[in-house]
Amino acid sequence: MSSYAIELLSAAHDRVGFASGLESVDRYFREVARGHLEKGVSITRVLVGANAGSPKPVLGFFTLSGIVVEAKPWPGAPKGLPSQAVPAVLLGRLAVAAVHHGKGFGAMLVAAACQLAHETIVRTGGIGLVVDAAHQQAASFYVGFGFKPVSPDQLRLFLPAKSLAGTAIIPRG
Ligand SMILES: CC(C)(COP(=O)(O)OP(=O)(O)OC[C@H]1O[C@@H](n2cnc3c(N)ncnc32)[C@H](O)[C@@H]1OP(=O)(O)O)[C@@H](O)C(=O)NCCC(=O)NCCS
Repeated sequence: MSSYAIELLSAAHDRVGFASGLESVDRYFREVARGHLEKGVSITRVLVGANAGSPKPVLGFFTLSGIVVEAKPWPGAPKGLPSQAVPAVLLGRLAVAAVHHGKGFGAMLVAAACQLAHETIVRTGGIGLVVDAAHQQAASFYVGFGFKPVSPDQLRLFLPAKSLAGTAIIPRG
């Protein structure tokens, strides 16, 4: 059985060779993600084969950062939230290399993002994990993991803190 690792994005990873099929996300990964990590704007982690040679081919990635949101009316938000903005974790981007779509890697990345968001929230507070889906199909992908749309265009979705601690998801491929 293949084994995988989730690592902080670094110079050891092949950013240039990554292509998910969604150009805006790929450009962010190739050109912006490392700089944001170095500056503390956001943290990008990559999924790689456990025994990958250098530079390591990237199977997928996701990016987390802090966010403040006015979530009082959101479905699943805790009761009695203050009216002003409250802290949460943002899953800003997530993608799988196109040649590996349909193998369960996307689910694996969502599970890892949820676990990290849970660990952050139990240490520093936060009401849950917010995701900004790039398009409607991506929004349906997140709905499959229990996220609920919270914006009129349905592209911002939310998973409350109590739903974040889950079990590991094993890829199919
Ligand atoms: C969306 C994406 C991350 C899915 O990754 P993946 O590795 O192919 O997904 P998985 O194989 O882990 O599938 C997990 C589940 O999601 C479902 N799913 C996969 N892609 C989906 C999509 N586009 N829409 C709805 N559901 C989807 C699968 O059917 C599967 O459900 P199941 O377990 O009930 O069979 C991948 O297609 C991708 O990187 N797309 C381009 C970039 C992008 O759109 N990113 C989202 C931007 S926020």
